Amino acid sequence: MPLGLLATGTLSGAATLDWAAATEKANAALAKLSQNDKVNIVTGVGWNKGPCVGNTAAIGSIQYPQLCLQDGPVGVRYGSSVNAFVPGIQAASTWDRALIRERGQFMAEEAKGCGVHVLLGPVAGPLGKIPQGGRNWEGFGADPYLQGIAMAETIEGMQNAGVQANAKHYLLNEQELNRETMSSNVADRTIHELYLWPFADAVHANAASVMCSYNKINGTWACENPRILNTLLKNELGFKGYVMTDWNAQHSTASSATAGLDMSMPGTDFNGGNIYWGSTLTQAVSSGQVPQSRLDDMVRRILAAWYLVGQDNSYPSINLRANVQGTHKTNIRATARDGIVLLKNEGNVLPLRKPSKLGLVGSAAVVNPQGINSCTDHGCNSGALGMGWGSGTAPYPYFSAPADAIRARAQTEGTQISLSASDNVGSVGSVVNGADAAIVFITSDSGEGYITVEGHAGDRNHLDPWHGGNELVRAVAAAHENVIVVVHSVGPVILEKILAEPNVKAIVWAGLPSQENGNALVDILYGDTTPSGKLPYTIAKSADDYGTSPSRGDDDFREGLFVDYRKFDRDGIEPRYEFGFGLSYTNFTYSNIFVDGRPTSGPATGNIIPGGRADLWEIVASVTVTITNSGGVKGAEVAQLYVGFPTSAGTPPKQLRGFGKLVLEPGAEDIITFDIRRRDLSIWDTAKQEWVVPSGTFRISVGASSRDIRQAGTLEVP
Ligand code: BGC
Repeated sequence: MPLGLLATGTLSGAATLDWAAATEKANAALAKLSQNDKVNIVTGVGWNKGPCVGNTAAIGSIQYPQLCLQDGPVGVRYGSSVNAFVPGIQAASTWDRALIRERGQFMAEEAKGCGVHVLLGPVAGPLGKIPQGGRNWEGFGADPYLQGIAMAETIEGMQNAGVQANAKHYLLNEQELNRETMSSNVADRTIHELYLWPFADAVHANAASVMCSYNKINGTWACENPRILNTLLKNELGFKGYVMTDWNAQHSTASSATAGLDMSMPGTDFNGGNIYWGSTLTQAVSSGQVPQSRLDDMVRRILAAWYLVGQDNSYPSINLRANVQGTHKTNIRATARDGIVLLKNEGNVLPLRKPSKLGLVGSAAVVNPQGINSCTDHGCNSGALGMGWGSGTAPYPYFSAPADAIRARAQTEGTQISLSASDNVGSVGSVVNGADAAIVFITSDSGEGYITVEGHAGDRNHLDPWHGGNELVRAVAAAHENVIVVVHSVGPVILEKILAEPNVKAIVWAGLPSQENGNALVDILYGDTTPSGKLPYTIAKSADDYGTSPSRGDDDFREGLFVDYRKFDRDGIEPRYEFGFGLSYTNFTYSNIFVDGRPTSGPATGNIIPGGRADLWEIVASVTVTITNSGGVKGAEVAQLYVGFPTSAGTPPKQLRGFGKLVLEPGAEDIITFDIRRRDLSIWDTAKQEWVVPSGTFRISVGASSRDIRQAGTLEVP
């Protein structure tokens, strides 16, 4: 379907998979299993003891295979001939449901081709409350609504292609520093309205599995926390799949079992010791510490998830060497390109118009000189940046670097290219001399804490560009009056020094484009595609403006609901580039807002379905807005809907509750529809322990960003 048709504010369709039928099959299989079989289904075989990062034993009597659990959120980690899809943060920057869903589907097709049963993603935790957080780039940006939609689209895309999704990391793992010892101490309302929110979407999309995180939550390990696992996930959200530990995140035998854990991964610690389940679990069941019914429930959930996605039906055998790339790189090119955000374009220096000479500067312009996959799990920042580092990576099959892609394009137009593939300010002048424009490439990187890169132990130490990026830009701006800065980054970078240079005319926020880095950039630089990405986080003027940074000890989440734009709005802090911001080569006008619906106040009362009470998912209001392409070229606009709750609700001034993307020819107009669900107007009532729609006047703002509001209306809730 063309983008324009899909691009409404409507929510993803109901999944077609059927838990009841899957559970029935699981019950029939369960009846055939010995106690030993059952324990083997719930316990990994141990670290480094099988073909995948996680493995359980095959059970012949029910034709259950050796289960392969493999990272991760960008495709098959350690695959020999796979694609490295763009990270979640880039997919989110597209705000394009269809592309996000297709990305999930294609990743799953590759996983299935390799015989991987469970692909360990997508990621909704971290949410990204700490801009320096090392793994924020694995997820979908600093807003629970955006994360939630992207989680649901990804999971449905994956599972419809026959692969079990794994929503991780559950819950409140917002930093790398001390992630395996710290406690995230968080109030019930904050948990519900921010951090649990995207997991509700994941459960509603029928996620097969959830991974509990390394940290403690309010003093109890996430993987043995009965409130987080049994109460919130299984009872309140009606989760029917299984909970697996993060790798070696388990700390007990009986407590984890009774709290709601269903699978121990990888089954041992990283030295082969500390086996909490296996025969220890068998004993705990015989001694009555863990009820037999609980063990049966674990097995039922794991088998049901396997049946749910049809893996009992001639699934490929495990082969991480299979060539499964197909034509999936089209999705990588599209998400890399449409996730690029144009931040500044003074005097319309972009798009480039058949320049006679371009000067390219920076080590990030070229392929990593040591080789595209030379660093374990991409744990280095050498050459062009495609993604962060850690378990959430996949090897690149090839890498299109900016200089190569620009050179290829330049040849077709007779443009001369000069290049300084170094961050050394000394060589700048001669390279940019006589060029129509100077393009400078700078980066910022982060990743998982088991690797330290240039002194950054997972989390970033600062929000400045790496490798002296500010100085490099200053040197280029001193030598040329027409400078374009291209930033490849895992998250926000403070751009004030760069913006202080009057010769910096354009900033292209190119994000994390994976293997299609250069090709995607050329699409935008030359205007083959009009930029349409929007920021999935705020870029502040100062790192202090976020009000959060990695905690040394426990984190009390004192900022509560006020993270990212929610805080900037409340405190009246002017961001440099606000959440949802992005320029285009064309212009869009917004008109004719129409708000329809008569939602009623009060608590949700429906039955529990996957995702929580059924009525929370019902559409209770619709907002339509007409968008017109009033500029000169074809382009796509991401329109965003923000809700301001009645003051009595005590919520942030506005919260994202809808978005849609429309592709429009110049002069064309179309209507965008935002469907608002009951949950979108609800707050978590801690006394009632229910979602409640407050009565009063709700402010509806529709705009091009969280601060560029073009149309406003109200919704009265009696
Ligand atoms: C990460 C998980 C990953 C697992 C297996 C852990 O360190 O936190 O995201 O899936 O390792 O590699």
